[in-house]
This record gives sequence, C-alpha cells and structure tokens, in this order.
Amino acid sequence: MELTVNGVTRAISSPPLTSLLQVLREELDVLSPKAGCQQGGCGACTVLLDGEPRRGCLVPVAAAEGHEITTVEGLGTPGDLSPIQAAFHQKYAAQCGYCTAGMLMASHALINRNGGREVQREQVIEALSGHICRCTGYVKIVDAVIAASRGDVDVEKEQGLLVAEPSEPAVEPKGAPA
Ligand code: FES
Ligand code: FES
Repeated sequence: MELTVNGVTRAISSPPLTSLLQVLREELDVLSPKAGCQQGGCGACTVLLDGEPRRGCLVPVAAAEGHEITTVEGLGTPGDLSPIQAAFHQKYAAQCGYCTAGMLMASHALINRNGGREVQREQVIEALSGHICRCTGYVKIVDAVIAASRGDVDVEKEQGLLVAEPSEPAVEPKGAPA
C-alpha cells in the first residue's frame, strides 16, 4: 500500500487493518497525532483526510489509501507557521500540548469549511466538541480559532518568538509512544 501524507507518497508495509494513527507514528515517524483514548473519544489523534477531520485511531490504514492525509507537520513549521498555529501561540491556547495537534487540525478544517470567513463561537464549540483538553479550560482555544478566522493574528511576530536564541541548545522532542 501507499499513503500520501502532507503531499508526499510513501510505501508502507503495515497490515491493512492497522490504525492510521499507528502507521503515521510507528512506521512513518509522523509524531504530531497523539494516542489518547484510542477509542474515538478524545480527538488527540485527529488528522485531515481530504481536508476533513478524521480520528486516526479509528481509520484502518487501507481506508486512507488514495486520500490526501494532512497532519500538523503539513500545516507549518516553527519558521513558517500557519495562521491557526500562530493564533494558538498568541492566545496561549496550548499547555501540555497533548490535545493540541488534534485541535489544530479540526480548527483548520472548520475555518476552511467556512470559506475563510470569521467563525462564530458556537461553530467552534461544535467543531471541537469531541476534543478533550485536560489543561486549558477551552476558552483560550476557542478565542484562538476565532482570531485565526478573523486574520487577527501577527504570524511573523509569533514565529519570531519561536526561533531559538543562538545560545539555546536545539530541542528535538520525540513525542510520546503510541
Ligand atoms: S486517540 Fe483517537 S480519539 Fe482518542
Ligand atoms: S493542552 Fe493539555 S490536554 Fe490540552
């Protein structure tokens, strides 16, 4: 089988009923989707399939073949943030970060579905209703999504804050095991 992840098509050897989450993390080393409940209930594993949010823990990898899979790695990088990533940083919408990748993907899809227009608070709450966060209390997350949809975020400034000082050692988090 082959999977197209963030625009790159790669051959995989996992059995067809392996979860997409497991293949992304264990075989392809794409570590932004997180393994939370692994039962479809928390949203930490959310990725986009052809632009729509899907629970990676519930999708057999065979069902993802032929579709465009997008993860946070495809949204942006620390030096080239997407607006939704910059908004989460600006609004302090992430704490431990375990839920954040799933929140980002669902939020990005919501803004795209809305044609890039400003989203209403109720829309954000509905879109993120299946996403569990144990840290933030949700208010800052909802504020960040609304700000991103309004274009009310200084992406360059937030990127500048993420660039390490020359004296700081590089940190390469490996992510939690699935
Ligand atoms: S890990 Fe997939 S929904 Fe919780
Ligand atoms: S930031 Fe910790 S679970 Fe959401």
